Amino acid sequence: MDFYIMTLFPDMVMEGLNTSITGRAVSKGLLSVEAVNIRDYAFNKHNSVDDYPYGGGAGMLMQAEPVYQCYQAVKERIRSKRHKVAPDGAGNPGGQKKPRVVYLSPQGQTFHQSMAEEFAKEEELILLCGHYEGIDERVLEEIVTDYVSIGDYVLTGGELPAMVMVDAIARLVPGVLHNDVSAEFESFQENLLEYPQYSRPEVWHEKRVPEVLLSGHHANVEKWRREQSVIRTAKNRPDLLEKALLTEAEILLAESVKEENIEE
Ligand code: ADE
Repeated sequence: MDFYIMTLFPDMVMEGLNTSITGRAVSKGLLSVEAVNIRDYAFNKHNSVDDYPYGGGAGMLMQAEPVYQCYQAVKERIRSKRHKVAPDGAGNPGGQKKPRVVYLSPQGQTFHQSMAEEFAKEEELILLCGHYEGIDERVLEEIVTDYVSIGDYVLTGGELPAMVMVDAIARLVPGVLHNDVSAEFESFQENLLEYPQYSRPEVWHEKRVPEVLLSGHHANVEKWRREQSVIRTAKNRPDLLEKALLTEAEILLAESVKEENIEE
């Protein structure tokens, strides 16, 4: 999967994403991450890309034209890469497909795991990072396909949200995690939080690893983990339980945890 990040701070993005698991996936050729500097498409001698908003108001806006030219350059890169992969278009059904362009903004839809799963099906993703007070609406209307926020708070720019998105999506790309199963059984899978985990030693600070995990009894381990997930979700994220598929016994367990929570 190829990520293109349109930004005024390419170093910030590349330094973050070239390390750890995403960095390793890039080295292995499972992903590519390219930060494209919007400033390279400035059209004045000062290389500036911002201007005052019509109608007045605080701060500056990113202008439409540099963003548009940057987008055209990214689109061209995608086109030539697709062409290299399948020069005659054969076996390349995405050949004509317009890449999705995500604008990171607090005004977007809130990012969540199923959105990451949906984006992970794309061959390419373009992420557009705003700065200052935002971007001229007209270019957004022309190029953006998805508006995404990473939460109800305002950051100084879209770079950190773009990195969050790349990280969450990249780990779903086959081969990126050592163990693909670990992307399956984790927080938000089936709308339950992940169960607690333990490693050696068996006793640490006088706390023992739960006996069932040492038993070697696979079915009991699974049962215990599932219960722990229900308990943890009921305690920390009861809102998620409404969407989770629970057995009668699990519903009762969740109810008792919620009641305990109220009493505490
Ligand atoms: N840009 C500034 N704040 C943001 C947020 N919360 N999510 C996405 N992009 C942003």
